[in-house]
Amino acid sequence: MKPFKILGFIGGGRVTNLLLAGLKRRAALPEKVLISDPDASRLQTLTAIDLQCIQSVESNREAAQAELVFLAVHPPVIAEVTAEIKDSLSPNAVLISLLPTITAQKLSNLLGGFSRIVRMIPNAPSVIGMGYNPVFFSEALSPDEKTELQALFANWGAAPEVLEKDLETYAMVTSMGPTYFWFQWLELLLLAQEFGLDVISARQAVAAMLNGAVEILFNSGLAAEQVLDLIPSYPLKKDEEAIRQIFEEKLGRLYQKLKAATS
Ligand SMILES: NC(=O)c1ccc[n+]([C@@H]2O[C@H](COP(=O)([O-])OP(=O)(O)OC[C@H]3O[C@@H](n4cnc5c(N)ncnc54)[C@H](OP(=O)(O)O)[C@@H]3O)[C@@H](O)[C@H]2O)c1
Repeated sequence: MKPFKILGFIGGGRVTNLLLAGLKRRAALPEKVLISDPDASRLQTLTAIDLQCIQSVESNREAAQAELVFLAVHPPVIAEVTAEIKDSLSPNAVLISLLPTITAQKLSNLLGGFSRIVRMIPNAPSVIGMGYNPVFFSEALSPDEKTELQALFANWGAAPEVLEKDLETYAMVTSMGPTYFWFQWLELLLLAQEFGLDVISARQAVAAMLNGAVEILFNSGLAAEQVLDLIPSYPLKKDEEAIRQIFEEKLGRLYQKLKAATS
């Protein structure tokens, strides 16, 4: 298997940070990582995690000369960024877009016909190799190339190949998903301590409860109603409807917005 020697990242923000932290943890960093970002302080955050191979470059064009180029900017700047880099991509390079809403076809059009494009929607547990990062490969990638890329992606966790039309759904569910729950778990952690547990016991208890609750709900073979009926009292029962409505309204609206913006 051919290891990738030079990665380029256009945008040095959160997603770049989490992917590089994941590679570092797996001792899978390449020889060189070229990163372009208008805000130099972002790169200081990255170098703070001691990535010797990182090289800050002044222009997106320079980062685009890598063999694997990650597009890690927000959708509104995509026209500007693609115009900058389209003449710098080598014909053998692969562009990995981490953006929702911009299809591979649209990217290819913006890049003057460059078609070696992969789209990936990463999620934060990739930092510890436990990500769930659905990918879509454009037809220009050969089966061998896909296998090489999958070997890299495996450092971050699962990278199931999915339909391109579903990527915005994954952005809602797997990429943003942790934000719907983390604050609640942290609240329970605080309460566990307030109720008398030391922090280590509280963390163990909450983590074990969550792992078990996920397994029984999704992987036990029991129906959801059977699982829910295993506990007789639901102290937050009266609030459930309001929470459900918040999920439906806020996430429903955001999903519609993402789909409407997809082109
Ligand atoms: N973070 C995640 O977990 C995650 C997961 C899946 C997908 N994504 C996608 O990844 C993309 C980046 O997200 P992020 O979380 O990394 O956001 P972020 O933390 O805001 O980072 C984006 C970076 O891009 C820089 N930037 C802005 N314009 C640029 C340009 N013209 N050329 C080069 N860099 C430029 C920004 O600089 P300024 O701050 O100075 O503008 C910022 O440092 C988004 O499309 C997002 O939807 C993120």
